[in-house]
Amino acid sequence: MARINDSFRKLKAGYLFPEIGRRVTKFCSENPQANVIRLGIGDVTEPLPPVIVKAFHKAVDELASRQTFRGYGPEQGYDFLRQAIVDNDYLARGAAVELDEVFISDGSKCDTGNILDVFGADNIVAITDPVYPVYVDTNVMAGRTGQADDAGRFAGLVYIPCTAANNFIPELPEGKVDLIYLCYPNNPTGTVTRREQLQQWVGYAKANDAVILYDAAYEAYITDPAIPHSIYEIEGARDVAIEFRSFSKTAGFTGVRCAFTVVPKSLMGTAADGEKVSFHALWNRRHCTKFNGVSYPVQRAAEAVYSAQGKPQVRAIIDFYLENARLIREGLQASGMTVYGGVNAPYVWVKTPGTETSWEFFDRLLNQAHLVGTPGSGFGAAGEGYFRLSAFNSRDKVEEAVRRFRNVIG
Ligand code: MLT
Repeated sequence: MARINDSFRKLKAGYLFPEIGRRVTKFCSENPQANVIRLGIGDVTEPLPPVIVKAFHKAVDELASRQTFRGYGPEQGYDFLRQAIVDNDYLARGAAVELDEVFISDGSKCDTGNILDVFGADNIVAITDPVYPVYVDTNVMAGRTGQADDAGRFAGLVYIPCTAANNFIPELPEGKVDLIYLCYPNNPTGTVTRREQLQQWVGYAKANDAVILYDAAYEAYITDPAIPHSIYEIEGARDVAIEFRSFSKTAGFTGVRCAFTVVPKSLMGTAADGEKVSFHALWNRRHCTKFNGVSYPVQRAAEAVYSAQGKPQVRAIIDFYLENARLIREGLQASGMTVYGGVNAPYVWVKTPGTETSWEFFDRLLNQAHLVGTPGSGFGAAGEGYFRLSAFNSRDKVEEAVRRFRNVIG
């Protein structure tokens, strides 16, 4: 009989969001009259902007004609999209990224998990706590950890707590680590990192031959000009960092699926024999072997995000979600709750009342207010006692959610 990958047995039974979905489905089947409002998973609700829909349609029509039909595209993505990314996301911000360093994919969740293929099994991995659970679970699956303790911390990982005591700003690891996951604007706390802080991480990575895996999926929510959008805005970052970006929350692509990863050619790792090897070459090899590219119409739709009409249309939707975040943040503050984030990010991080645990608060909100959020402990041990609310929903549902929240708390 074939052996399983035993590392999977170290994981908690279910991934966080399906587990929430399971509880909500059960509640809805037992309470069919309940009008449940979901501010749990960060899934967009607003329709695609018109210019993106138009580009999408046009590309589908091209596939309907022999003259313009396309089969397999380049695994790494079409140059028209890679160039638009380089020009708008990087060169326009003074960050040097070259076209062939951009790899188009179908999602940052996949990319942050898949990137582990190019790293040796004995690398020491540091993660902030709380954290996007994919970083932890994929390392567990890859066999890089021991068992979890009662709080859910896996042996072998280096956890860097982000708490109210340190303003949710992670401190540099005390010893040497090889891989560091950073996510800014942060999921789940909604906090941001300043240029000087990021410079310290780049300095640490250089001094320790470490690689930073920088998840910037929410960069479009940054409104403060002092906050960097890309790690490559920081001097020296090209030699130490891989960056993940996504169209999911930027342009409403959670269902459409398009993202990209930047692997600079100057980023090197060490082989067992001591030779220096380019991670770019390894990722390119991996990408071409295991991936056949994102569909042509999706890439044309993503390209339209950067068009003269696309930019303001996309911006209007992001501003809409940011206004939702403000309403949530200020509404909860007015009812005496302690809240963080939600200014340059679509997530509001709420301290649970009294000594209530995250899951107790989740159950109370669901049962008493028919509201769904995400329990902080689902993002790690340091998330216990917190609750995440997402700003992705319609205005009337967000306003109604704030009213219900206040009734439960007040
Ligand atoms: C979240 O709610 O944390 C995100 O939507 C999850 C994801 O992007 O995969």
